[in-house]
Formats: sequence, C-alpha cells, structure tokens
Amino acid sequence: MRHFPAWFVACLAAVTASASAPSCSADSKCPEEYPCCYSGQCGVGTYCLGGCNPLESYSLDSCTPEPICKNQTYSFTSLDNAILYDHYLGNSTEYDWVYSGYPKIQNESLWLTMPNGTTGSLFALNHYIWYGKVSARIKSSRTQGVITGFILLSDDLDEIDYEWVGYNLSSVQTDFYFQGVQNYTNERNAAVTPNNTFEDWHTYTIDWKPDVLEWTIDGTVMRTLTKNSTYNATSGVYQYPQTPSRLEMSIWPGGSEAEGTGTIEWAGGLVDWDSTDIQEYGYFYAQYKDITIECYDYPTGTVVKGDESYVYTSDTGLSSTIEVSGNDTVLYNFEDTGLNMTAGSKTTASNSGSGSGSGSGSSSSSGSESTGTGSGESKKESAGSRTSSSETVVYCGM
Ligand SMILES: *[C@@H]1O[C@H](CO)[C@@H](O)[C@H](O)[C@H]1NC(C)=O
Ligand SMILES: *[C@@H]1O[C@H](CO)[C@@H](O)[C@H](O)[C@H]1NC(C)=O
Ligand SMILES: *[C@@H]1O[C@H](CO)[C@@H](O)[C@H](O)[C@H]1NC(C)=O
Ligand SMILES: *[C@@H]1O[C@H](CO)[C@@H](O)[C@H](O)[C@H]1NC(C)=O
Ligand SMILES: *[C@@H]1O[C@H](CO)[C@@H](O)[C@H](O)[C@H]1NC(C)=O
Ligand SMILES: *[C@@H]1O[C@H](CO)[C@@H](O)[C@H](O)[C@H]1NC(C)=O
Ligand SMILES: *[C@@H]1O[C@H](CO)[C@@H](O)[C@H](O)[C@H]1NC(C)=O
Ligand SMILES: *[C@@H]1O[C@H](CO)[C@@H](O)[C@H](O)[C@H]1NC(C)=O
Ligand SMILES: *[C@@H]1O[C@H](CO)[C@@H](O)[C@H](O)[C@H]1NC(C)=O
Ligand SMILES: *[C@@H]1O[C@H](CO)[C@@H](O)[C@H](O)[C@H]1NC(C)=O
Ligand SMILES: *[C@@H]1O[C@H](CO)[C@@H](O)[C@H](O)[C@H]1NC(C)=O
Repeated sequence: MRHFPAWFVACLAAVTASASAPSCSADSKCPEEYPCCYSGQCGVGTYCLGGCNPLESYSLDSCTPEPICKNQTYSFTSLDNAILYDHYLGNSTEYDWVYSGYPKIQNESLWLTMPNGTTGSLFALNHYIWYGKVSARIKSSRTQGVITGFILLSDDLDEIDYEWVGYNLSSVQTDFYFQGVQNYTNERNAAVTPNNTFEDWHTYTIDWKPDVLEWTIDGTVMRTLTKNSTYNATSGVYQYPQTPSRLEMSIWPGGSEAEGTGTIEWAGGLVDWDSTDIQEYGYFYAQYKDITIECYDYPTGTVVKGDESYVYTSDTGLSSTIEVSGNDTVLYNFEDTGLNMTAGSKTTASNSGSGSGSGSGSSSSSGSESTGTGSGESKKESAGSRTSSSETVVYCGM
C-alpha cells in the first residue's frame, strides 16, 4: 500500500506553493520557474530536497543531488540531529533526519505519535542508501486503521516496505514497488513470533543487494525477492527497486475518512479515536531503536565522479544510470533549486529559525490537489481534501 501520509503533501503545499504552482506527472513535467516535482506538485526549495522526483521535474538536475550513504548506528537520546522538514536545506552532515508531526524521545527510543484526530508523524533519514542493510528494533502501534511504517523509498518511487496494520499484531506486511507502479500482488504477510508486534521488540531488517532483496525478522529470512524474478519481457526492464532510497519511518491513519475506500479497507477499517491508547496517552504510538545502516558497494560498472551525492543521468531511472558525484547537496535558501543552488543570499537552517515558513499562520492553499504520478491514487487524492486552514496549523506548525 502506498504510505504517503496525506498531510506531508498538504503541508508542503500550504507552506510553499503559490496557488498558481502547477501539478506534475511523468507526462507533464514542471516548468522552469517551479522546477521540482514533489508528490505531484511543482515547487522550489523544500520541494527540491528529499522526495523530489527527477523524472517528473523540469530536468534531471532540478532536484538537489542526494547525499550518499553513511554507515551509522542511530540510538535515540535526543532529537538534536533531527530538523523539521521545511527548515531543512540539504545539509545531511548537520541533520541526519527530517521529520513532521509529533516525534519524541522516551526510554532511549524514538516514539512516533499520532495524537487524537491528527495524521501522525514521519521521520526520514537524509542520507540515501543505494543498496545496503537496514535494521531496527521496533514495536508497532496497535488498533485497526492505524499503520506503522519502516520503508525505503527512492525519489522516483522505488519502494521496499515493512508495514504493520494495527488490527493484526501477529504479522507484518512486506511489499515492494518499482517506480511507483501499484501492484497489490506484491504484498506478503510475514508472521512474527512471539506474536504481538505492539508488546514485543523485534529486529526487522531489509537486506537490499543489486540482485536480491531479503526481509529478515529476528535473524530469520522471511521473504526473498530476486531481481531476475521481476523481469518484464515486454519492456525489457527489471521492475526491481534499484534507485537510491531514504529510510522513512511513520505512523499514519490508513483508516482516516480522508483516505480512499481501498486504503481504509486495507487498514482494517476506520480509526477508533476513543480507543485505549488515545484515552491513556492521548496518542497512538510506534517505537523504534537501534537503527543500523550498512552501506554496500556500488553495483559493478557504476560511474563514480566523487563522493558526495547520487545523481540521476537518465529518465529511465535504472540502476545503471545512477552516478556518484562530487556535487554538493545544500541549497543557499528556500527559493533555490537544483538548477542554481547558490542563487540569492545564504540562509542558515536551524530548528528554531524561520524557514520559508513553519506553517504557523500559513493560509490554506487550494493549490494542493496532487494529481499524482498515476500511482497511489487513493492516498494522493486525499491530500487536497486535507488542507482546511484550521488543520494546516496543527499538521505543520509543530
Ligand atoms: C553537478 O555539478 C556540475 C558543475 O557545477 C553541473 O554542471 C551539473 O549539472 C551538476 N549535476 C547535477 C546532476 O546536479
Ligand atoms: C554542513 O554542516 C556542517 C556541520 O554543521 C558544516 O561543517 C558544513 O560547513 C555545512 N555544509 C554546508 C555546505 O553548508
Ligand atoms: C520504559 O522502560 C522501563 C524499563 O524497561 C519500563 O518499565 C517502562 O514501562 C518503559 N516506559 C514506557 C513509557 O514504555
Ligand atoms: C504484478 O506482479 C506480478 C509478479 O509479481 C505479475 O505477475 C503481475 O502481472 C503484475 N501485475 C500488474 C498489474 O502489473
Ligand atoms: C494475521 O496475520 C497472520 C499471519 O499472516 C494470519 O495467519 C492471521 O489470520 C491474521 N489475523 C487476522 C485477524 O487477520
Ligand atoms: C499468540 O499466540 C498465543 C499462543 O500461541 C495464542 O494464544 C494467541 O491467540 C496468539 N495471539 C494472536 C494475536 O495471534
Ligand atoms: C539472473 O539471470 C541471469 C540470466 O539468466 C543469470 O545469468 C543470473 O545468474 C541470474 N541471477 C540470479 C541472481 O539468479
Ligand atoms: C510490462 O511493461 C509494459 C510496458 O511498459 C507495461 O505495459 C506492463 O504493464 C508491464 N507488465 C507488468 C507485469 O508490470
Ligand atoms: C478524540 O477527539 C474526538 C473529536 O474531537 C472526541 O470526540 C473524542 O472524545 C476524543 N477522544 C478522546 C479519548 O479524548
Ligand atoms: C560501510 O561499511 C562497509 C563494511 O562494513 C564498507 O565495506 C563500506 O565501504 C562502508 N561504506 C561507506 C560509505 O562508508
Ligand atoms: C546562480 O545565481 C547566482 C546569483 O544570481 C549567479 O551569480 C550564478 O552565476 C548562478 N550560477 C549558475 C550556475 O547559474
């Protein structure tokens, strides 16, 4: 299931898009003045950073280059290395993570929370992974309609998923996508023992190599996908996740009235906002700790021109066309784009500073309908209907 929390798009639109900024898709790329396509909407600044789709943007270099993989173990004792997504300018050395919503640190774990009536939280790693092994200890959220995510997502929408659907705490769903193409037959349940994903810590691993992908729980391989098995003889393309990806962790309401009926059904029904967790804590929550990233070597034959970033050199989005470059990843300010990252004056990103807008006081935008990329219609449709002005402050203001 596509995981995009509706508010992320809604917030971006409310914060940065003018009502006239156009939408984008593979067939209708962004214009030069708003060159960056983020989830179906054209823009500058924040739109050009993580999640900017080069294949739907004005040109392949409209999005900023993607910071390369970093071997690292993350334990959570503070949120000092995380920044609100619309204050981030692309310096992954300064901030490892971007977030939106309501994350907190508790018991040396990262808690992603979803307070009553909200659309939850998202926490994304700013260092891309281009093949590697990613592990975390996780306790999922619970209750029907409430989804916990631990996924790798590339800017052109290749995706590798673990998703916990709150009505079934004895299993986790595994899934993958190539360039955002929706294919429900790729989803598989993996049983988890002991069988309560909310009560028990388990170690969930994605082991992603150029020719084989494994989902491993507590050291046991639960699912294997070979690149060969994804071959499409008609197009001659391996429909295998193959572009640099960010780790994204989230809690969100699949069972929200704003979602499409397919999504609500998949989520197990509408969220019950009077359930135990809301009554006891005031929020639903998922817990993460001990996140480990091991970067694998680039595929044989990769063009390596530097050691800063990954760049797309072709609109096929195939692994063989990704280059490793020395290009910088940081924008001077929130009006800049990959086309000229150093135009205008330099702004310093900071958690307390004012970016293009924290969202507080932003007026609601009617330009936020995202027609999407042809995939995940049900969730993207809902983005537009989310931007009521009163909600915008709650979702984006933090
Ligand atoms: C990388 O930097 C060079 C030199 O500034 C520039 O010509 C090129 O377009 C950049 N490539 C990308 C993909 O940003
Ligand atoms: C990124 O942040 C680091 C650490 O704060 C700093 O040393 C570096 O100069 C910054 N890079 C850019 C391009 O701003
Ligand atoms: C924090 O950890 C302690 C010790 O493991 C445990 O007793 C307590 O319930 C935990 N608190 C929360 C809020 O999970
Ligand atoms: C979905 O993927 C399976 C292989 O995993 C393939 O057999 C099927 O044709 C695909 N369906 C669509 C609609 O792409
Ligand atoms: C939960 O998932 C397990 C494992 O796939 C399955 O056997 C079980 O029937 C599911 N339970 C519910 C309530 O759907
Ligand atoms: C978990 O396993 C126990 C013992 O086998 C069983 O009694 C219980 O019903 C299972 N719970 C779920 C949610 O499947
Ligand atoms: C994939 O298929 C090719 C050609 O049939 C074969 O040479 C290769 O060994 C296969 N790779 C794997 C991982 O099975
Ligand atoms: C294979 O590729 C063709 C041409 O791009 C596409 O129409 C078709 O849906 C693909 N098949 C699968 C199973 O994805
Ligand atoms: C959650 O919010 C709804 C709508 O405001 C309210 O009806 C409900 O009582 C709240 N739940 C709790 C447990 O406070
Ligand atoms: C990460 O660590 C592995 C060994 O664990 C090493 O082979 C690889 O080169 C390292 N990659 C980076 C980007 O540091
Ligand atoms: C970027 O913009 C600045 C200021 O307008 C200009 O001086 C510089 O030449 C531009 N750089 C590129 C690569 O266009």
